[in-house]
Amino acid sequence: MKRVLSGIQPSGQLTLGNYIGALQNFVKLQHTHECYFMVVDLHAITVPQEPAALREQSESVAALFVAAGIDPDKAAVYMQSHVPSHAELGWLLTTLTYMGELERMTQFKDKSEGKESVGAGLFVYPALMAADILIYNSDLIPVGEDQKQHLELTRDLAQRFNSRYGDFFTIPEPYIPKVGARIMSLDDASKKMSKSNPNPGSYIALLDSPDVIRKKISRATTDSGREVVYDPANKPEVSNLMGIYAQVSGLSLQEVQDRYEGQGYGAFKKELAEQIVAALEPLQARYNEIRSSGAVHDILKQGADKAAAVADRTLAEVKRRMGF
Ligand code: ADP
Ligand code: NA
Repeated sequence: MKRVLSGIQPSGQLTLGNYIGALQNFVKLQHTHECYFMVVDLHAITVPQEPAALREQSESVAALFVAAGIDPDKAAVYMQSHVPSHAELGWLLTTLTYMGELERMTQFKDKSEGKESVGAGLFVYPALMAADILIYNSDLIPVGEDQKQHLELTRDLAQRFNSRYGDFFTIPEPYIPKVGARIMSLDDASKKMSKSNPNPGSYIALLDSPDVIRKKISRATTDSGREVVYDPANKPEVSNLMGIYAQVSGLSLQEVQDRYEGQGYGAFKKELAEQIVAALEPLQARYNEIRSSGAVHDILKQGADKAAAVADRTLAEVKRRMGF
């Protein structure tokens, strides 16, 4: 079986964008691939985090992985920091990385722009991400647009290691899901829906209560006019909402459009909110069960053991080749 690795940062509340764009694909991939899904807590601390909040968020993200349908007996679900080989290989790969390569990373440029002091972790983090991927000799990496450049660097580092120390690392490929669902912000369809947006009205969090979901959808930006028509160029806001509707209901965009023909935005938004509430209800029930039973700790232990069995072996061989 080919190996898949992906991670989500515990840097905020997971959103409907994370669910549609990442978690739903993870759930499918676990049946056909050997999967490693981790909470990348070591990445989150590249910007300051409050310790108690980091701990709570990390457990919450792990529980959401499972609540969304990832089976911890199939896929490894774990915390990056619980498998110390990631950090050690991260250092080894940092020594193979050029300053110029890191300086070219647009995410670093974006995140550091205008800041008075920028942590070195933010700068070298792509080498740690390369370690996360290469340590499992992963074949396929589900990545968003914003991570493609980091995956390119990972491939370069794998090739560099292989040419210096002998063929060893698998060169990973990006995995672009067939339904290229990119969910945009509720307040501005030119930006992706993101948990790091400071305005909570811009996203639906997976743990939002039904009333909060209804309020956020009723306040979501719409375009001028009143027809519910899928036209991303001229009606970006409504088209985004229709995309969400289609994803959570399982209808096609055409079916959504037909259903609201002759009706205005009001009726459409009202039912969209109910569709989202219904889609998230079972996930939230499973989440509450996992959190209240404390099962998340056993799940993370099982995942870390499974991941470490592979990761530790890779690290040992890398160190041997590098002269340790
Ligand atoms: P965020 O921007 O919410 O912090 P991350 O950068 O941590 O999200 O991304 C985690 C995963 O979720 C990635 O696989 C990413 O492609 C996916 N993802 C995040 N936001 C969206 C979105 N708005 N639409 C579709 N997929 C998304
Ligand atoms: Na992010």
